[in-house]
Amino acid sequence: MGENSTLVLFGARGNLAKIKLIPGLFHLDESGKLPEGMKILSIGRQKIEDDVWKAEIKEMLDVKFKKKYEKNVFDRFIARNFYHANEPEDPEAFKRLSNKLLNSGDFSKNIAFFLSVRPSDFSTIVDQLAAENLLKEDGFWKRVLIEKPFGTNLETAIELQKSISRHLAETQIYRIDHYLGKSALQNILMTRFNNAILEPLWNKNYIDHIQITNHETLGVGERTTFYDSTGALRDMIQSHLLQMLALTAMEKPASLNPDDIRKEKIKLLESINPIPINEIEKNAFRAQYSKGTSNSEGNVLGYLEELGDDKSVVETYAALKLFINNERWNGVPIYLRTAKRMHEAGTYISIKFKNKDDLVKTDKSNWLVISIQPRESTHFEIQTKTPGLDDSLMRTTRLEGLNRIDGDETIDSYETLMLDLMSGNQSRFLHIDEVKAAWSLVDPVIVEWVKDKNKVHQYPSGSGDPIESKIIFENPDQFWRKSINN
Ligand code: BG6
Repeated sequence: MGENSTLVLFGARGNLAKIKLIPGLFHLDESGKLPEGMKILSIGRQKIEDDVWKAEIKEMLDVKFKKKYEKNVFDRFIARNFYHANEPEDPEAFKRLSNKLLNSGDFSKNIAFFLSVRPSDFSTIVDQLAAENLLKEDGFWKRVLIEKPFGTNLETAIELQKSISRHLAETQIYRIDHYLGKSALQNILMTRFNNAILEPLWNKNYIDHIQITNHETLGVGERTTFYDSTGALRDMIQSHLLQMLALTAMEKPASLNPDDIRKEKIKLLESINPIPINEIEKNAFRAQYSKGTSNSEGNVLGYLEELGDDKSVVETYAALKLFINNERWNGVPIYLRTAKRMHEAGTYISIKFKNKDDLVKTDKSNWLVISIQPRESTHFEIQTKTPGLDDSLMRTTRLEGLNRIDGDETIDSYETLMLDLMSGNQSRFLHIDEVKAAWSLVDPVIVEWVKDKNKVHQYPSGSGDPIESKIIFENPDQFWRKSINN
C-alpha cells in the first residue's frame, strides 16, 4: 500500500483544506488508499494545540459527511494528524519544523509539502524549507505541490519558476490544475485515441468549430478581493479551459507516459496563434453579472454590488476565440467561455461537424458533446427522418452514453492528485512550459482589458450567454450551445 511518507499541509486552516483536502484525505483513508504509516502535519499561522486541531478536523468531517463515518476509521485518521504553527516569514518556526520532521523520529523523511497558501508566499516558503535542509533528496524523496495560480502572468510565472528551481528539480515540483484530477478530463484523451471511428473525423475537414464551456451558477462568494485581482480569464481560461482544449486537440502521445503526454500538450499550446490585439473585440469578450435570480439562492446581488466598487472592470464572464496553427486544425475556430452566475452549471466540450452535401437541407448539424460535469457523458447528435409521410422532415436524435454509472469509484480530483503527489506521478500536473504557453496566450488580452476602463457589459444573474458575445464568432450561423443538451 505504498511507502511511509509525510504530507505537510501549508494553509491547513484555509477554505480549500477545510472543504476539499482534509475531507479528501479522510475519504482516501476510509477507502484504504493511504499508506499505513503516512502522517499528516498541518500548518497554520496560529498557535493551537494538536487537540484543538483534531477537534477542528472532526468538525470538518461532520459537516462534509453529515457525521456518517465509522468510529474506527475516524480514530485511525485522527491518529495520523498533527499541527504545527508556522508563519511563512518566520525562520525560527521553520527551524522547529525541520527539527520535528527530520530529528524527532516521529515522521517519515519522504516528505511532500502541499502549499495551499497565498501565491505571494510560495517562494518564501520554498526558500525557508531549503534553508532548513528540508528539500534535499538524500535517500528520501522531497516534493512540493504548488496551488494555482502559478504566477499571475508570464513574467511572474517565470520569476517564481526561477526562484523555486534554485532549490528544486523539475521532478520535485507539482504544479496543480485540479481539473486534471477529474477522471472525466482524462477520458477526453482516452475516448479520442481508443475509438478508431473518431480519428478520421477529428480535423479541419470535418469539424466546423469547437466550444469549450464552463458555466457556474455560483457567484464569486466571499472571494471578492481575490477575484477582483484575478478575473475569469486568469482564474479559469488560463488554467482549466486551456487544459481541456489541449486534451481535445493535441496529437496522439507516443505512450501514456507522463512525459509523452505533457510533450504533446505543450506542443499544442505553443501552436495556438497569439490573439490579434488590434482586433481584440472580435476575438475576446468580457462581461460582469448584475443582480438577478439564481435557482438555488433566489435574488442575488450583482458583482459590483458584492464588491462594493462600481468602477471595477474585472470580468466574471470571459470568452475567447482561438486558432491552432497546425495541419490538423488550421482555420477551425475554437471558442472558450467561462462564466459565473449563469442559468445553469455545466462543463463540457462540444464539437460541431460540418454539413457536407446533405440530401435534405436542414440547419442542424452533427454535434459530439463530451460532458465533464455535472454528469459525465458523451453524446452524439445525428439527423434522422421524422416518421410519417414527409421524407424531408428531419429531426435531431441524441445517442447518449453515460461515462459514469452506479457503482463506479468516486474519487474527487484533489484526492486523485494527492495520491499522485504521494506516489510520485507527475502526469496529471503541469509542466512549466504548459504554464508559460498559457500565460503567453492570455496575458495580452488581460493587459488590454485592464487598460480599458469603460463600463463592462452586464448580464443578469441567472441568464444565459450575452447575445453581445456573438461578436467573436467567425460565421453568422455559429453561436454558443445553450446547454449540454441543446
Ligand atoms: C477554481 C476557480 O480553480 O475552479 C474557481 O478558482 C472555480 O473560481 C473552480 O469556481 C471551479 O472548479 P470546479 O471543480 O467546481 O469546476
